Amino acid sequence: MKEIINVEIKARKADVSSCETDLLIIGRFSGEKKPDKITAALDEKLGGAIERIIKLDDFKGKEGTSAIIYGNETIDAKRILLIGLGEEKKATLNTLRKAAAYAANKAVAIKAKNVGMALHAAFGRRFDTADMARVMAEGIYFGSYRYDEFVTESENGRLVSLEVELIDSEQAKIKALENGLISGVIVGRIQSYARTLANRPANVISPAKLAEEAQKVAKSTTGVSCTVLDEKEIAAKGMGGLSAVGAGSQNKPRFIVLKYKPANRSANSLPTVALVGKAITFDSGGIDIKPSANMEQMKLDKSGGIAVLSAVKAAAELKLPVNLYGIVPAAENLPSGSSYRPGDIVTTFSGKTVEIQNTDAEGRMILCDALEYAVKENCDIIIDIATLTGACMVALGQYMAGLMGNDERLIKQIQAAAEESGEKVWPMPSGDEYAKEMKSKIADLKNVGSRWGGACTGAAFLKQFVDDKKWAHLDIAGVDMIEKSTEYSAEGASGFGVRLLTTYLMNIVKKNKK
Ligand code: BES
Ligand code: ZN
Ligand code: ZN
Repeated sequence: MKEIINVEIKARKADVSSCETDLLIIGRFSGEKKPDKITAALDEKLGGAIERIIKLDDFKGKEGTSAIIYGNETIDAKRILLIGLGEEKKATLNTLRKAAAYAANKAVAIKAKNVGMALHAAFGRRFDTADMARVMAEGIYFGSYRYDEFVTESENGRLVSLEVELIDSEQAKIKALENGLISGVIVGRIQSYARTLANRPANVISPAKLAEEAQKVAKSTTGVSCTVLDEKEIAAKGMGGLSAVGAGSQNKPRFIVLKYKPANRSANSLPTVALVGKAITFDSGGIDIKPSANMEQMKLDKSGGIAVLSAVKAAAELKLPVNLYGIVPAAENLPSGSSYRPGDIVTTFSGKTVEIQNTDAEGRMILCDALEYAVKENCDIIIDIATLTGACMVALGQYMAGLMGNDERLIKQIQAAAEESGEKVWPMPSGDEYAKEMKSKIADLKNVGSRWGGACTGAAFLKQFVDDKKWAHLDIAGVDMIEKSTEYSAEGASGFGVRLLTTYLMNIVKKNKK
């Protein structure tokens, strides 16, 4: 897929005071009374404009704020954007990622094609230089992203390409910056790819189209293969959950399996991880149809599956030494004469039977078959990601995903990856009390619990399909979408999970090497 805005990021040796660019980006912590060393030289040429802004208190360096200064004939930057980094002692790599996103978002808004970025300079030696380049690249992709592929009439046009140079005056740092850019660009670009796939509406992406996309990924990525089961094969295998959910639509379900095997490593010594993602290309609720308000947002109900597809692509491009499955059950949940109904009893791939109490609790019905598939393939670790419940959104809002699981260590690892990637999670329970609510009198399970704790009962349902495998569940309802544009991003699909899952995989690989 073509990038919507073509982003190019390089590293270059240059001084901030003599950097030729449309927009020069400099970071500033709050509470600093004077420009730091690097900015001081620039400020001298600007006749003290930066210091005046600070003295006037117009720009305090608070996170999420900025000030613009126009260049003069003594410097080569047309504009300088000072970006607030907040309190220095609280700063993390995610502070830098967000500052880069802020800057890229602004650059696209003001149509500054060429950007010189020296944001990392403010952090000195606090972080590894390559790590700083990596997070800046991720942020640049995130902030510059726009979804307008179907807009044919645009009043002012928008930037077609964005060229960013990470600048540093020390030659020794350039190599490290370049190293960090390699992985940052892979992850950033793939997260934008995920956002575009998720943003595409259901008349453009059906389960079959999503499967074609997965096959394209396999073809274009070394080490990745893809198999797709169509609706007949799904039924023949006994995947009754996926069959039932997909039955109401003309756009038939698909079961997508991506496999990544690293080159040159004995696969046996490495753990096998399964990523499982819910891909409902449109969730109308089915016979238990949803209210019409905001129903169009349910095109994003495929976000978990897309995060999985994208994370597999990223892992392969990063050449991570891990055996990886990406399992994506895909269906469209629509009401029709052939839909599954409330009251139906469905036999899932595991053999367990489920009484349908609400056709809108369809995510768990497709995921249980996919989890069982991962168990049958003998995966050591299973992580599923799904826009599973409105209840999770009620509980946590739009800032963090719910995290459940059956293995303390795995949960800790995902929490650590969330911290690093800036894609936040919050732990939630899914124990026996919740599982008890999912018991049916006329089948093994039912697909809804009581009125309360819907995110937890949803997870407790899934838990019953993972056998004794290490398992974690990410409920991304709420974080899959940026409802209103922010200073860091345009609105629409967020691509949540791409950075989180990739970071998790990078981390377990680091551990294996030790
Ligand atoms: N896709 C929805 C969950 C959702 C809601 C995601 C809002 C993003 C934003 C899911 O399939 C669903 O409808 N769940 C039901 C479950 C209920 C019937 C047990 C829900 O949350 O109401
Ligand atoms: Zn639903
Ligand atoms: Zn759904």
